[in-house]
Amino acid sequence: MKIGKIALGLAAAMSMLTTVVARAQAPDNDPQLVAADLRPSTMLDGLWNYSIDPYQSGLFSFHGGVPGRSETRWNEVDVMQVMRGDTLSLFEFDMAAAPTASLPSSWLTHSAEMRHYQGLVWYQRHFSAAPTLGKRTFLRFGAANYFTRVYVNGQPIGEHEGGFTPFAFEVTDVLRDGNNQITVGVDSTATRTSVPPMVTDWENYGGITREVTLIEVPQTFVDDAWVRLTPDGDIAAEVELNGPRAANTTLVLTIAGLNLRMTGTTDASGTWRATMAAPAALVRWSPETPQLYDVTIRAGEDTWHDRVGFRTIEVRGSEILLNGRPVFLRGISLHEEELGASPTRAMTRASSRALLTIAKDDLNANFVRLAHYPHSEVTTRMADELGLMVWSEVPVYWRIAFDNQETLSTARELLADNIRRDRNRASIVLWSVANETPVTDVRNAFLGTLVDDVRALDQSRLVTAALLVERTERDGHPVMTLADPLAARLDVLSVNTYNGWYGSDRLADVPAIEWDLPDDRPLVFSEFGAGAQYGFRDSRSSPQKFSEEFQADYYRATLAMTANIPTLRGMSPWVLKDFRSPRRQNLLQQGWNRKGLISETGEYKLAFDVLANYYSQLQQEAPR
Ligand code: GCU
Repeated sequence: MKIGKIALGLAAAMSMLTTVVARAQAPDNDPQLVAADLRPSTMLDGLWNYSIDPYQSGLFSFHGGVPGRSETRWNEVDVMQVMRGDTLSLFEFDMAAAPTASLPSSWLTHSAEMRHYQGLVWYQRHFSAAPTLGKRTFLRFGAANYFTRVYVNGQPIGEHEGGFTPFAFEVTDVLRDGNNQITVGVDSTATRTSVPPMVTDWENYGGITREVTLIEVPQTFVDDAWVRLTPDGDIAAEVELNGPRAANTTLVLTIAGLNLRMTGTTDASGTWRATMAAPAALVRWSPETPQLYDVTIRAGEDTWHDRVGFRTIEVRGSEILLNGRPVFLRGISLHEEELGASPTRAMTRASSRALLTIAKDDLNANFVRLAHYPHSEVTTRMADELGLMVWSEVPVYWRIAFDNQETLSTARELLADNIRRDRNRASIVLWSVANETPVTDVRNAFLGTLVDDVRALDQSRLVTAALLVERTERDGHPVMTLADPLAARLDVLSVNTYNGWYGSDRLADVPAIEWDLPDDRPLVFSEFGAGAQYGFRDSRSSPQKFSEEFQADYYRATLAMTANIPTLRGMSPWVLKDFRSPRRQNLLQQGWNRKGLISETGEYKLAFDVLANYYSQLQQEAPR
């Protein structure tokens, strides 16, 4: 959740420590700055000093009260100079003399000692600014994992919970012309009530993992804009202005490539909605033709820009329709982790392009599941450009505290921020609200609220969730049954299935496994997979698990089983690349989940071609 701009000054420093968090149930009034990554901005990448604080002494004194100046890292103080000049003074930190690291990147790769650090880390740097009189300046984080507190020039300016969505605070009032200091406290600790919870199956990359930028905008600016193609063939636009002249302002939306121009005036709340018939010349976005158009909105002194693809996605019975035509989602799952032996979850365009190109060009995929949390906007834009449909999800994963109102509020905020950030991404076709969550009444209510939120924020996309199935027997055959009450709320049914990897099924029995499913809804296999260490080979007729041969046999058996599912409309096998997971500590994994079709350094395993050939066959059989 984001705490809006907190009053400045020392008093606020105290309130920071005991802030009673205002739960964002109402529409989020925090700045969205949609498409801010395309606005001119000052990048605060590069070297920052960092200092660990595992006992949170920068937040609480030794008895839990307000910390003294000797501990508060955000003060503007030259520690050594003050201590030299005043022999009574004492500081327990010295940010200026602390080690440095290049951001954005997780602290796990700052040094060997930091590899397994979880907790609070303080970052600090200085930067020069030249604020334009009459304009407003926002400090924007692409993401920081998990709980972040931000201070500028010794003043607290805000805090944010959540490790995977952008947040921004206005710094107009505290920014100086010339030298400024920014201090950021990031705490990676997951708790029983956090989203995700404490136990997951991926590395918890703490820190400032996405870009930090300063963005200057006019007094009144375009804060949110959503431009899309409707099933009726209209271009629909929804724009929200932020600032003193948000109401009754004339704005002009142009799509140069379509010679299209829409004009209008915002209402009293600063909102403008309009539709216009799409020109016949419009080329719809698809994996085959990932056509993007430059959309510009001029409102008062502000010019907003995004690159948008126009397409429709719907379900009709058990079919998924892209631009009105049945489509099969030939997918693969990914975590947000770049190729290489020591990833730091710093997803640059080059890193993202490298991974998505393997999926698109080598695996013959047209779909990626960006698991299990909102990935960087770098990747969703890359999917737009390369032509890959996307499953986007929030980390409502396994044992979430479904009975906790704060957890629900956090999940709702993450979901809303993810949707608002990416509503203009044509690649995104599915919003997922959960992964493998145990079925209870409170869980059904919690997830029902999230489904309602998706429907309220974005009627143009499909809703799903990765569900678990139950196993029964019929005539000696295993039968998998989807009995999850949440299924009735979803457009697309999705199931993670691991027959032949987890459990007692022999691979030889997997192709005969039957499925009992609703026949009027599309099904996606959101996960199936088997582990293999690249280079570990076993040529016996029944190879052992974690050999490349076993993984390849597992894929052949599972793909054969799909013939028993007439409503199967897609799959995103688990997973493109081996990824870091503290749960995986046997000799053949050593801290990596090795269900990747490629190793962490990009070596292709035998199973890669099994899936690639299957997708190539599907592609050839697909109706033109
Ligand atoms: C689950 C889960 C994944 C996990 C995978 C596995 O399906 O959704 O996050 O990594 O199983 O066991 O490898």
